[in-house]
Amino acid sequence: MAAKVRAMALSDPLFAPLDLPCGLRLRNRLAKAAMSDGLGDGMGRPSAAQTALYGRWADGGLALQIIGEVQVDPRYPEAPGNLVLTPGGDTSGFAALARAGTAGGTALWPQLGHAGALARAGIGRAAGPSALDLDGLSCVALGTDEIEALPELFAASAVMARDLGFPGVELHAAHGFLFSQFLSPLFNRRTDRYGGPITARMDILLRTVSAMREATGPAFAIGVKLNATDQLQGGLTGDEALQVVAALDGLAVDLIDISGGTYFPGASAASDAGGAGAYFAEFARAARARTKVPLMLTGGIKHRDEASRILADGVADVVGLARAFVVDPDLAHHWQAGGPDPDFPRFTTRPPGGVTAWYTETIAALAHDRPAPPPDADAALASLAARDAQLAGLWRDRFPQ
Ligand SMILES: Cc1cc2nc3c(=O)[nH]c(=O)nc-3n(C[C@H](O)[C@H](O)[C@H](O)COP(=O)(O)O)c2cc1C
Repeated sequence: MAAKVRAMALSDPLFAPLDLPCGLRLRNRLAKAAMSDGLGDGMGRPSAAQTALYGRWADGGLALQIIGEVQVDPRYPEAPGNLVLTPGGDTSGFAALARAGTAGGTALWPQLGHAGALARAGIGRAAGPSALDLDGLSCVALGTDEIEALPELFAASAVMARDLGFPGVELHAAHGFLFSQFLSPLFNRRTDRYGGPITARMDILLRTVSAMREATGPAFAIGVKLNATDQLQGGLTGDEALQVVAALDGLAVDLIDISGGTYFPGASAASDAGGAGAYFAEFARAARARTKVPLMLTGGIKHRDEASRILADGVADVVGLARAFVVDPDLAHHWQAGGPDPDFPRFTTRPPGGVTAWYTETIAALAHDRPAPPPDADAALASLAARDAQLAGLWRDRFPQ
């Protein structure tokens, strides 16, 4: 029996290693997709519980784990529990986090982010490609000088990540945050070199990726998380997203992480979505024809058979799972041993953002070695709001606007 399980694991594409172009070897094909964990100390630094969390996930046998929303500029956070990795900033605790999260050969990458127009009210300055005054969303436009500064800002944070012991970073260009805003005609109404056709809207993203590579050198992993579609009328289309994939093919990128949806008010976000099946598999198939860069497919993957098939069919090279690793941090070991699929909670009410909030609260429980809260999305929204309010006070003191 044990021999049979071992033979199955050996022939399963889920457990074959993958060498990224930079030389980093992923020990298997299972990645914990980026999740904003809300566990920073409110001053942009890792907390002890957060360090324990990434150690816990590393013990679970996955190949790659990505820390969501590590900000390159404290003026544009997604949430007050975000980490901040910016030149001249306080980096205490980051090297210990990198050590814990890379134990046993796991790769731990910070996801470098900038929320732009979606910067959290009360602690951030909402500024995107264009000034907007919409129902539920208003922001000012970034000046040209601020846009021109982005490549160096991200490059500097990537170098800091490398020097603190992280083997790579992921650039967040999905879900309606800054680079996703540049790609989307809904947010980007500029008439200069950064707006108009998709070739212009992707310009700052491409320049930023190039600057990151030039600054970090060839032996450091750089991933890019990209939307297959914004799932919004008038947003980035699949055809345009494929053009971005083709353009990234010309740069030294190690992994394109395919996702979709946005946190635009009222829009659908993948982290809140129900339903079965990999959400963006069709796009990944089309992307495969446009690039040789390894692809990670994230969103909606719940079953081991499905994950194996995605790899065996060549749709993607890595499968990204977020919520599955929250309900089962040992998923990689369980799947390798022929164990069961994760048991997802069922919610009786699904207020907007409530499912995501439950996962955030469950991540906090995991970090503190406490049982998961009951699957009550309304209660999760309330407890997350209370936690965020406390952290927001600390953030305002540490990063006065
Ligand atoms: C609690 C939570 C926080 C998330 N935070 C981020 C984030 O910071 N950055 C990001 O790119 N995606 C984030 N996501 C989205 C996930 O990476 C993923 O794209 C989405 O949950 C769909 O994958 P899944 O079906 O495997 O959960 C988050 C998801 C959850 C559940």
